[in-house]
Amino acid sequence: MDKLWAGRFSKELNAAADDFNSSVGFDCRMYEQDIKGSMAHAAMLGACGIITKDESDRLIEGLEGILGDIKDGTLDIDMNAEDIHMFIESVLTSRLGDVGKKLHTGRSRNDQVAVDLRMWLRSEAGEIKEKLLALISAVNEKAKQYPDAVMPGYTHLQRAQPVTFAHYLSAYSMMFMRDVTRLQDAVKRMNVSPLGSAALAGTTYPINRQMTASLLGFDSFSLNSLDGVSDRDYCIELLSCFATVMMHLSRFSEEIILWQSWEFKFIELDDSFTTGSSIMPQKKNPDMAELVRGKTGRVYGDLMAMLTVLKGIPLAYNKDMQEDKEAVFDAVDTVKKCLTVFAPMIETMKALPENMLKAAKSGFINATDLADYLVGKGLPFRTAYKIVGQTVGYCVKTGKTLEELSLDEYHEFAPEFGDDLYGAIDIKNCVEKRISDGGTGKKAVEAEMNAVDEFLKQYK
Ligand code: ARG
Repeated sequence: MDKLWAGRFSKELNAAADDFNSSVGFDCRMYEQDIKGSMAHAAMLGACGIITKDESDRLIEGLEGILGDIKDGTLDIDMNAEDIHMFIESVLTSRLGDVGKKLHTGRSRNDQVAVDLRMWLRSEAGEIKEKLLALISAVNEKAKQYPDAVMPGYTHLQRAQPVTFAHYLSAYSMMFMRDVTRLQDAVKRMNVSPLGSAALAGTTYPINRQMTASLLGFDSFSLNSLDGVSDRDYCIELLSCFATVMMHLSRFSEEIILWQSWEFKFIELDDSFTTGSSIMPQKKNPDMAELVRGKTGRVYGDLMAMLTVLKGIPLAYNKDMQEDKEAVFDAVDTVKKCLTVFAPMIETMKALPENMLKAAKSGFINATDLADYLVGKGLPFRTAYKIVGQTVGYCVKTGKTLEELSLDEYHEFAPEFGDDLYGAIDIKNCVEKRISDGGTGKKAVEAEMNAVDEFLKQYK
């Protein structure tokens, strides 16, 4: 394909260099954004009298034709083109003749690529937001199914205090809710049009940047042309949002993998989201969760790649920046795929409350409650803490649980122990007594799940 910039060259580009330089293999994904950007530019050129109204109409019509033809498959994107911007412009010129050559008046590929990527990411961020909302809804509905299932809560992966499964799951709703708002914040900052920055310094034509910004749904236009064409902060911000989503998904995956193991058996993943082993007939593996955990590394890598590409390049556009798209595309594809399997995996997962309760009953997770009981009897907390520590030590030695000790045995440690201690250390009571806002008590968890529903309602 002839280069549109071939004018000052006397030799053709070396074939390997041509291949190396070309980005059409991946930036073809932005053909629609590129065409829409060009249509807005053509409309503006006409409105500002830089080209005639008739020329502007013909350009827009030609671009519409190309868009339709790519969409319905009558026009294949030429993989020998340098990039999607060159491809579309050359098809337009071959279809319209000289009028097509007027499209590039007062603009550069540098502002084209920046505007295309912003529009592409804006729409993908919208889709990812929808997927996050679907996941939050799946998690919240699952939590509502198990308001009374008590499980051990952990610190250091050591049994710590009892919590409900609903409370545990809702912690993940909180994370994904933050992911949604974080994404919205980033999109707000991204929704600024660089179009009209031209190559780097603006243009001599009397263009109207507000008009193209409005036509393309941007909130405003960039205030500095050098920055307009070389800013990729929005890629970094979005990649960092995606990396955070993946980090949350990966933590959740890790829990699911543990819970699905025979060592825990707190949940049963549905057959449709697990796989078997080629040799061990008994296996039911949580592959989806493991893959999500594994793919988190890719998305972190994409963010690191982008930060590294940008760290050493002077203003304004440099070809290094062509590397932005593959990182962004890979991260978007990965996050979308992960969210797409995660929501139904949660929806179809079953909890095993008896196993959770069994685990909650060993490991002395009611020891804090026993100390609080003694505080209720007038002992200072530190004294109570020490007495309960000694009692637990005795239990470990004798192989008993706190519930199994007789009152006589308790009196060896403190005379303040009375018959009512057994109610105080009943695991379900321990949960119920955690009445603080945001705690694991039933009312607080109900309020939490209602808040998630309220959050979701804003997006209906
Ligand atoms: N394919 C290029 C990219 O993706 C488009 C911008 C090219 N601009 C330039 N001056 N070579 O970054």
